Amino acid sequence: MKRYISGWVAYLIIPSALVLVIGTTASADQDGDYDDGATAESITHGQPAQLSDAWMLAAGGRIYDNWWNALGRVKPTSTHPSYPAAGGKEGSVTWRCKECHGWDYKGVNGVYGKGSHYSGIKGIDGAAGMPEAEVAKIIRNPDHGYTKAMITDDELAWITAFVSRGQMDMSQYINLETRTIIAGDVERGRGVYQTVCAACHGFDGRLLDWGDEEGHAYVGTEATAAPDEVLHKIQNAHPGVAMVNLRSFPVEYAVDVLRYAATLPTE
Ligand code: HEC
Ligand code: HEC
Repeated sequence: MKRYISGWVAYLIIPSALVLVIGTTASADQDGDYDDGATAESITHGQPAQLSDAWMLAAGGRIYDNWWNALGRVKPTSTHPSYPAAGGKEGSVTWRCKECHGWDYKGVNGVYGKGSHYSGIKGIDGAAGMPEAEVAKIIRNPDHGYTKAMITDDELAWITAFVSRGQMDMSQYINLETRTIIAGDVERGRGVYQTVCAACHGFDGRLLDWGDEEGHAYVGTEATAAPDEVLHKIQNAHPGVAMVNLRSFPVEYAVDVLRYAATLPTE
C-alpha cells in the first residue's frame, strides 16, 4: 500500500515539476512580444510576435530596398519583364523596387530622372496615403509579378504599410537635382552617430567597407555620393544584416545623422 501511494506521488510530482520548468522558460516573455528560439534571435530574418508599427514600416522599407536579402529568399536572375529597354540595367537588380521607383520614392521625378539608374518610371510617392489593400493589389498585379513565393501575404502587409504610411518627402532634406544635403543639424548628428552608428561603423565610419577593386565604400563615401540611399537606410536599415534603424524616432534625427555622416572620410 505504501509503495502504491509513493508510486502515485512520484507519478504526479515528476511531471508537474517538468511542467513548471518548461513553463518557466516559456513564460519569460510575459507580454508575448517574441517567440522563443530562432525567430526571436534573428533580427535579420526573424520577426517579433507582436509587431510594432515602427518595426513593420522599417521591414517594409527593407523589402523596398532589396526583398530577397530582406526576406532571405533566392534572388531572381532574369530581368524584370516590366523593366523598360530605356533603362541601363539588367538581371536581379531590376527586381528591386528602388531600381524602378528610386531611393527618394519619386522615380523619374527624382534622382533617378537621369544617370545610370534612369528607368523613366514614376515614383511611389503618389501612392502615399493609398489604402493598403489597393497597394497590395498593385504589387500582386501581373505587371509587377511579385508572387507569394517571393513575398508572402504577411510580408506584403509590411511593404504596403511602408508605401502607404512610411514614405517621406526627401526633397525637404536633399536637393534631388544636385544630390546634395540641404538640411540637418551636424552637432546633433554627431551625437547620434557616435552613440549609435559608431558601434558597428567606427567613429570615422571606416570599420565596415562594402567597396570593391574600384575603391572603398564607407558610411562617409555613401552619404556624400548617395544621400537619398543613406537616408532610406538610416530609417529602415540595410537588408539582410544586423543593422539598427531610426524608424521610431522623429525623421529629423535621421537627417542629422545623414548630414554628419557626409563629413566622414570618403576614402
Ligand atoms: C521593373 C520596374 C518596377 C519594379 C521593380 C517595381 N515597380 Fe512598381 N511600378 C512599375 C510601373 C511601370 C508602374 C506603373 C507606373 C504608371 O502607372 O505609370 C508601377 C507602379 C507602382 C505603384 C503605383 C504608383 C501610383 O502612383 O499609382 C506602386 C505603389 C508600386 N509600383 C510599388 C512597387 C513596389 C512596392 C515594388 C517592389 C516590391 C515595385 N513597385 C517594383 C514598375 C516597377
Ligand atoms: C549593429 C551594427 C550596426 C549599426 C549600429 C549600424 N550599422 Fe550600418 N551597417 C551594418 C552592417 C553589418 C552593414 C552592411 C555592411 C556591408 O554590406 O558590408 C551596414 C550597412 C550600412 C550602410 C550601407 C551599405 C550599402 O551597401 O549601401 C549604411 C549607409 C549604413 N550602414 C549606415 C549606418 C548609419 C548611419 C548608422 C547609424 C544610424 C548605422 N549604419 C548603424 C551594421 C550596423
